[in-house]
Amino acid sequence: MERGAARGFLPPFGHFATQAIHAGQEPEQWRSGAVVPPLSLSTTFKQRAPGQHAGYEYSRSGNPTRNCLEKAVAALDGAKYCLAYASGLAATLNITHLLKAGDTIICMDDVYGGTNRYFRQVAMKMGINVVFVDCTKLKHLEAAITPETKLVWIETPTNPTLKVIDIQGCADVVHKHKDVLLVVDNTFMSAYFQRPLSLGADICMYSATKYMNGHSDVVMGLVSVNCDDLYERLKFLQNSLGAVPSPFDCYLCNRGLKTLKIRMNQHFHNALAVARFLESDSRVEKVIFPGLPSHPQHELIKRQCTGCPGMITFYIKGNLEHATAFLNNLKVFALAESLGGYESLAEHPAIMTHASVPKEDREALGISDTLIRLSIGLEDEEDLLEDLDQALKAAFPDHNALK
Ligand SMILES: Cc1ncc(COP(=O)(O)O)c(C=O)c1O
Repeated sequence: MERGAARGFLPPFGHFATQAIHAGQEPEQWRSGAVVPPLSLSTTFKQRAPGQHAGYEYSRSGNPTRNCLEKAVAALDGAKYCLAYASGLAATLNITHLLKAGDTIICMDDVYGGTNRYFRQVAMKMGINVVFVDCTKLKHLEAAITPETKLVWIETPTNPTLKVIDIQGCADVVHKHKDVLLVVDNTFMSAYFQRPLSLGADICMYSATKYMNGHSDVVMGLVSVNCDDLYERLKFLQNSLGAVPSPFDCYLCNRGLKTLKIRMNQHFHNALAVARFLESDSRVEKVIFPGLPSHPQHELIKRQCTGCPGMITFYIKGNLEHATAFLNNLKVFALAESLGGYESLAEHPAIMTHASVPKEDREALGISDTLIRLSIGLEDEEDLLEDLDQALKAAFPDHNALK
């Protein structure tokens, strides 16, 4: 299997798999000595005397199973603290509540459609100003910062066009200004491939619905921070806004982390094989995969990451009909939104995940009718390549005519 370090990426973060398995999971914390953290469903906890409790009062404010997960994720992010939420968007909502009406958010102009929708259609109505800027260009970011700017939101690689943003570069620009926070949505990379906090970000957030849980059976958000004050403010909001995950989801996500390293290595291996296959295929216009030397920011991603996840975007030749025929004919890949699970998925961003992004913005970002996004899973490489080939054949029955 080709590993990131062998291909010129950063070496893996030390002790990652050991921490994923052991951090926050100490059997000594349970009277039973349970090696696997118990699923703690109780919503309330008995107090010895009024106000005297063993760390837990009410399950929204704190839950033993959630605590195990939060400790494990903090260790994997190289962070002091982590907080878990009911979804990735609930994490975004909590972070935005650090601001007040009149403050400004600078958001990368190419982010997950739901983030874009929340900022434009909800946060802006609450009096928060949001401006969308291409943060791949640090000069544009620098020029956009005003005294009202309180938060800069980036997602790298971006969704779905996989632009890579220089996290350290953004942090240097942002931290020239007092009290401006840099948030990195690390959903696509997972803690295994990218550590935004070590690159200068203040907040690392995830839709844990994706790689962090990795089994497409939990909707959850995670936020990691190092700053004590920021943690206290976010902890207050976690309890006050109440968008917490269920103990069962925490149990599952905590379990998912145990295989994060081996899953991510296999996602990378399979994605590289698929990206190379597509890049050499004459029915494909262009492949975007940061792990390929043809990606314009391949050097940057090697500098700031330990590898690449299973996300590949490509432009199929032809038009919407070809894209639709290709998607309709896939057999191993499921036509579905979301990403980062063990199963391979394919989707049409313009019609599916990014339909809520205004059409003119979609066009400017290159989210066209022929753009297809793949989430490469953990199946056998040869089955994935065979499936893509047969779906391309079905989309182009008269293939030679296009050559
Ligand atoms: C990059 C990214 N960030 C945030 C979210 C939102 O997370 P959730 O669906 O868990 O609310 C998603 C969901 O697809 C995403 O892909």
